[in-house]
Amino acid sequence: MKEYVLITGGSSGLGLELVKECHARGLTVCNLSKNPDKISKLYEMFPERFVAFAGDLTDHEYVSQSVAKLFEDGRVTLLINSAERGVFKSPADYTPEDVETSLQGLSGMELVTTAVLKASEEHDLKIVNILSSAARTGKPKEALYCAAKWGERGYTEALKAAYADTSVKVVAVYPSGMNTAFWETSRDYIPTEKSDTFLDPAQVAKLILDNVMQESELIDDEQIIKRN
Ligand SMILES: NC(=O)c1ccc[n+]([C@@H]2O[C@H](COP(=O)([O-])OP(=O)(O)OC[C@H]3O[C@@H](n4cnc5c(N)ncnc54)[C@H](OP(=O)(O)O)[C@@H]3O)[C@@H](O)[C@H]2O)c1
Repeated sequence: MKEYVLITGGSSGLGLELVKECHARGLTVCNLSKNPDKISKLYEMFPERFVAFAGDLTDHEYVSQSVAKLFEDGRVTLLINSAERGVFKSPADYTPEDVETSLQGLSGMELVTTAVLKASEEHDLKIVNILSSAARTGKPKEALYCAAKWGERGYTEALKAAYADTSVKVVAVYPSGMNTAFWETSRDYIPTEKSDTFLDPAQVAKLILDNVMQESELIDDEQIIKRN
């Protein structure tokens, strides 16, 4: 039976590096992300062992149909939730649209994970949730991002409790700043000179995969990745 690694947000940043790293390790990858032009480029990069569906991860129909397609000819054995949008402002400056935008990553993680858990009948699955140092510390210009990430952390902890001692393994990853397109819409907060000093997402992806692909149990139930 065909086995898929399902990665959300695989068209950019850490998600893209995870797609590359999984593909280089001979795995078959499915990406779920929004921008169809970026997905066309991915098909050029990965002519085989790759599939992608374009849509909004907050759209339940898109998520359930995408997951159903994968389980028609195989199953998902590794799910990596990486998709996120961040809006960085002082707390009083946020708009209602910012609130909605900032919750997309949390909603997407919950919808995709639920669909995959159901389709896999809750067995033989690894779930890796990409959190952040912002899921551990309150940061002045990151109130909505912290809210989403602390929410994702709570969701991850609940999954761990629900599937303890089963064949569903759940891990949270807490990277510090990475040099990705994530910051391109927030240059007043993180200018290029600063993000250039951040972690290389390719190295973070490799570290995550090195841990996750081990045959034994995940070595650590939490991975905190910081710059040396
Ligand atoms: N960059 C950092 O400094 C940093 C630090 C710690 C943790 N993180 C975490 O690492 C993860 C990856 O971040 P990144 O830096 O790689 O970000 P990124 O380069 O901005 O990539 C985000 C990805 O998420 C997708 N996405 C966002 N909202 C979506 C939605 N509603 N529906 C479908 N796709 C959606 C985007 O798709 P499209 O491009 O197609 O729209 C894109 O592929 C996130 O969970 C982030 O919170 C980032």
